[in-house]
Amino acid sequence: MNTIDKFDTKSKDVLFALEQTRKEFWNIDRATANFLNMLIKMHNSKNVLELGTSNGYSAIWLADALRHTGGKLTTIEFWDKRQSVAKENFKICKVDSLIEPLLGSALAILDEMGSEVKQGTREPFDFIFIDANKLEYIEYFHKIDPLLKFGGIIAADNTISHAKKVEPYIKALEEHPNYQNQMLNFEAGLFLSYKVQV
Ligand SMILES: C[S@@+](CC[C@H](N)C(=O)[O-])C[C@H]1O[C@@H](n2cnc3c(N)ncnc32)[C@H](O)[C@@H]1O
Repeated sequence: MNTIDKFDTKSKDVLFALEQTRKEFWNIDRATANFLNMLIKMHNSKNVLELGTSNGYSAIWLADALRHTGGKLTTIEFWDKRQSVAKENFKICKVDSLIEPLLGSALAILDEMGSEVKQGTREPFDFIFIDANKLEYIEYFHKIDPLLKFGGIIAADNTISHAKKVEPYIKALEEHPNYQNQMLNFEAGLFLSYKVQV
Protein backbone atom coordinates (compact mmCIF):
# COMPACT_ATOMS: atom_id res chain seq x y z
CA MET A 1 0.00 0.00 0.00
CA ASN A 2 1.31 3.45 -0.86
CA THR A 3 1.74 5.30 2.43
CA ILE A 4 -0.87 7.93 1.63
CA ASP A 5 -3.47 5.59 0.09
CA LYS A 6 -4.99 4.86 3.50
CA PHE A 7 -6.65 8.31 3.40
CA ASP A 8 -9.94 9.19 1.68
CA THR A 9 -9.95 11.48 -1.38
CA LYS A 10 -10.62 14.75 0.50
CA SER A 11 -7.90 14.00 3.07
CA LYS A 12 -5.45 13.11 0.32
CA ASP A 13 -6.19 16.44 -1.40
CA VAL A 14 -5.45 18.26 1.87
CA LEU A 15 -2.24 16.31 2.50
CA PHE A 16 -0.99 16.74 -1.09
CA ALA A 17 -1.70 20.49 -0.92
CA LEU A 18 0.14 20.81 2.43
CA GLU A 19 3.10 18.91 0.97
CA GLN A 20 3.39 21.60 -1.74
CA THR A 21 3.87 24.35 0.91
CA ARG A 22 5.77 22.32 3.50
CA LYS A 23 8.93 24.46 3.42
CA GLU A 24 6.88 27.54 4.38
CA PHE A 25 5.06 25.77 7.23
CA TRP A 26 8.00 23.59 8.33
CA ASN A 27 6.07 20.32 8.04
CA ILE A 28 7.69 16.94 8.45
CA ASP A 29 8.21 14.91 5.28
CA ARG A 30 5.86 12.10 4.27
CA ALA A 31 8.26 9.29 5.23
CA THR A 32 8.59 10.63 8.80
CA ALA A 33 4.80 11.09 8.97
CA ASN A 34 4.15 7.54 7.79
CA PHE A 35 6.72 6.17 10.25
CA LEU A 36 5.11 8.00 13.20
CA ASN A 37 1.70 6.72 12.06
CA MET A 38 3.01 3.13 12.02
CA LEU A 39 4.83 3.54 15.34
CA ILE A 40 1.68 4.72 17.13
CA LYS A 41 -0.18 1.67 15.81
CA MET A 42 2.65 -0.75 16.71
CA HIS A 43 2.96 0.76 20.20
CA ASN A 44 -0.83 0.96 20.56
CA SER A 45 -0.49 4.53 21.87
CA LYS A 46 -3.73 5.99 23.21
CA ASN A 47 -2.81 9.39 24.58
CA VAL A 48 -0.55 11.38 22.28
CA LEU A 49 0.89 14.89 22.68
CA GLU A 50 2.40 17.00 19.90
CA LEU A 51 4.44 20.16 20.44
CA GLY A 52 4.19 22.32 17.28
CA THR A 53 0.96 21.96 15.26
CA SER A 54 1.66 24.41 12.41
CA ASN A 55 -1.05 23.88 9.75
CA GLY A 56 -1.80 20.36 11.01
CA TYR A 57 0.04 18.13 8.51
CA SER A 58 1.76 15.88 11.08
CA ALA A 59 -1.28 15.95 13.40
CA ILE A 60 -3.46 14.49 10.62
CA TRP A 61 -1.06 11.54 10.28
CA LEU A 62 -0.86 11.07 14.08
CA ALA A 63 -4.65 11.24 14.45
CA ASP A 64 -5.16 8.78 11.60
CA ALA A 65 -3.16 6.21 13.60
CA LEU A 66 -5.29 6.99 16.67
CA ARG A 67 -8.41 5.95 14.72
CA HIS A 68 -6.85 2.45 14.86
CA THR A 69 -5.81 2.51 18.54
CA GLY A 70 -8.91 4.32 19.83
CA GLY A 71 -6.74 7.14 21.18
CA LYS A 72 -6.66 10.93 21.11
CA LEU A 73 -4.17 13.68 20.27
CA THR A 74 -3.45 16.93 22.09
CA THR A 75 -1.46 19.37 19.98
CA ILE A 76 0.05 22.72 20.99
CA GLU A 77 0.66 25.78 18.78
CA PHE A 78 1.24 29.41 19.80
CA TRP A 79 0.52 31.03 16.41
CA ASP A 80 -3.25 31.57 16.22
CA LYS A 81 -3.44 31.88 12.40
CA ARG A 82 -1.63 28.59 11.95
CA GLN A 83 -3.86 26.91 14.49
CA SER A 84 -6.98 28.16 12.66
CA VAL A 85 -5.73 26.66 9.39
CA ALA A 86 -4.95 23.40 11.20
CA LYS A 87 -8.46 23.24 12.70
CA GLU A 88 -10.00 23.65 9.22
CA ASN A 89 -7.77 20.86 7.90
CA PHE A 90 -8.75 18.58 10.81
CA LYS A 91 -12.44 19.05 9.91
CA ILE A 92 -11.94 18.28 6.21
CA CYS A 93 -9.93 15.17 7.11
CA LYS A 94 -12.56 14.14 9.71
CA VAL A 95 -10.02 13.87 12.53
CA ASP A 96 -11.29 16.92 14.47
CA SER A 97 -13.12 14.74 17.01
CA LEU A 98 -9.82 13.01 17.87
CA ILE A 99 -7.79 16.18 18.37
CA GLU A 100 -7.66 18.77 21.14
CA PRO A 101 -5.79 21.78 19.70
CA LEU A 102 -4.34 24.00 22.44
CA LEU A 103 -3.28 27.58 21.74
CA GLY A 104 -0.33 28.99 23.68
CA SER A 105 3.30 28.65 24.62
CA ALA A 106 4.37 25.01 24.86
CA LEU A 107 6.41 25.65 28.01
CA ALA A 108 3.50 27.35 29.84
CA ILE A 109 1.01 24.66 28.77
CA LEU A 110 3.40 21.88 29.82
CA ASP A 111 3.62 23.48 33.28
CA GLU A 112 -0.19 23.41 33.54
CA MET A 113 -0.26 19.81 32.35
CA GLY A 114 2.35 18.92 34.97
CA SER A 115 0.10 20.22 37.73
CA GLU A 116 -2.95 18.45 36.28
CA VAL A 117 -1.13 15.10 36.04
CA LYS A 118 0.06 15.53 39.66
CA GLN A 119 -3.51 16.29 40.79
CA GLY A 120 -4.82 13.32 38.82
CA THR A 121 -7.05 15.48 36.60
CA ARG A 122 -5.08 14.65 33.42
CA GLU A 123 -3.94 11.25 32.16
CA PRO A 124 -0.19 10.94 31.51
CA PHE A 125 0.82 10.53 27.85
CA ASP A 126 2.20 7.40 26.20
CA PHE A 127 3.61 9.06 23.06
CA ILE A 128 5.02 12.59 22.64
CA PHE A 129 6.13 14.17 19.36
CA ILE A 130 8.40 17.21 19.74
CA ASP A 131 8.48 19.59 16.76
CA ALA A 132 8.35 23.19 18.12
CA ASN A 133 11.24 25.54 19.01
CA LYS A 134 14.52 23.62 18.58
CA LEU A 135 16.32 25.66 21.26
CA GLU A 136 13.64 24.73 23.79
CA TYR A 137 13.85 20.92 23.30
CA ILE A 138 15.86 20.47 26.49
CA GLU A 139 13.29 22.47 28.50
CA TYR A 140 10.45 20.48 26.90
CA PHE A 141 12.18 17.30 28.03
CA HIS A 142 12.40 18.40 31.67
CA LYS A 143 8.66 19.18 31.60
CA ILE A 144 7.45 16.14 29.61
CA ASP A 145 9.47 13.50 31.45
CA PRO A 146 7.01 13.56 34.42
CA LEU A 147 4.10 13.50 31.92
CA LEU A 148 5.28 10.35 30.13
CA LYS A 149 4.22 6.89 31.29
CA PHE A 150 6.63 4.00 31.82
CA GLY A 151 6.95 2.35 28.37
CA GLY A 152 6.20 5.67 26.66
CA ILE A 153 7.95 7.04 23.58
CA ILE A 154 9.31 10.49 22.73
CA ALA A 155 10.01 11.23 19.05
CA ALA A 156 11.89 14.48 18.38
CA ASP A 157 12.15 15.91 14.86
CA ASN A 158 14.98 17.99 13.31
CA THR A 159 17.63 16.29 15.40
CA ILE A 160 20.02 16.03 12.43
CA SER A 161 19.01 19.21 10.52
CA HIS A 162 19.30 21.32 13.74
CA ALA A 163 21.93 19.19 15.48
CA LYS A 164 23.70 22.09 17.21
CA LYS A 165 20.47 23.59 18.60
CA VAL A 166 19.19 20.29 19.99
CA GLU A 167 22.57 19.12 21.32
CA PRO A 168 21.65 19.64 25.03
CA TYR A 169 18.47 17.58 24.47
CA ILE A 170 20.32 14.67 22.83
CA LYS A 171 23.01 14.72 25.54
CA ALA A 172 20.43 14.71 28.36
CA LEU A 173 18.58 11.73 26.86
CA GLU A 174 21.75 9.79 26.07
CA GLU A 175 22.99 10.22 29.65
CA HIS A 176 19.60 9.51 31.21
CA PRO A 177 19.34 6.09 32.92
CA ASN A 178 15.59 5.79 32.19
CA TYR A 179 15.73 6.15 28.39
CA GLN A 180 16.91 3.94 25.55
CA ASN A 181 17.54 6.05 22.42
CA GLN A 182 18.11 5.80 18.70
CA MET A 183 18.71 8.47 16.05
CA LEU A 184 16.84 7.64 12.83
CA ASN A 185 18.10 8.96 9.52
CA PHE A 186 14.88 10.49 8.17
CA GLU A 187 15.04 13.72 6.17
CA ALA A 188 15.48 16.03 9.19
CA GLY A 189 16.57 13.36 11.70
CA LEU A 190 14.17 11.75 14.16
CA PHE A 191 15.48 10.94 17.66
CA LEU A 192 13.47 8.19 19.36
CA SER A 193 13.53 7.71 23.12
CA TYR A 194 11.86 4.80 24.91
CA LYS A 195 11.17 5.10 28.64
CA VAL A 196 12.46 1.75 29.88
CA GLN A 197 12.24 2.52 33.61
CA VAL A 198 10.94 5.22 35.94
C1 LIG B 1 8.19 22.75 12.67
S1 LIG B 1 6.64 23.51 12.86
C2 LIG B 1 5.56 22.17 13.22
C3 LIG B 1 5.24 21.36 12.02
C4 LIG B 1 4.21 20.29 12.26
N1 LIG B 1 4.59 19.43 13.37
C5 LIG B 1 4.07 19.44 11.02
O1 LIG B 1 4.99 18.67 10.73
O2 LIG B 1 3.04 19.57 10.34
C6 LIG B 1 6.82 24.23 14.45
C7 LIG B 1 5.58 24.98 14.94
O3 LIG B 1 5.77 25.19 16.34
C8 LIG B 1 5.31 26.46 16.67
N2 LIG B 1 6.05 26.85 17.89
C9 LIG B 1 7.35 27.21 17.98
N3 LIG B 1 7.68 27.44 19.24
C10 LIG B 1 6.57 27.23 19.98
C11 LIG B 1 6.28 27.32 21.36
N4 LIG B 1 7.23 27.66 22.24
N5 LIG B 1 5.02 27.05 21.78
C12 LIG B 1 4.06 26.69 20.88
N6 LIG B 1 4.28 26.59 19.56
C13 LIG B 1 5.51 26.86 19.11
C14 LIG B 1 5.60 27.33 15.45
O4 LIG B 1 4.73 28.45 15.39
C15 LIG B 1 5.41 26.34 14.30
O5 LIG B 1 4.13 26.44 13.72
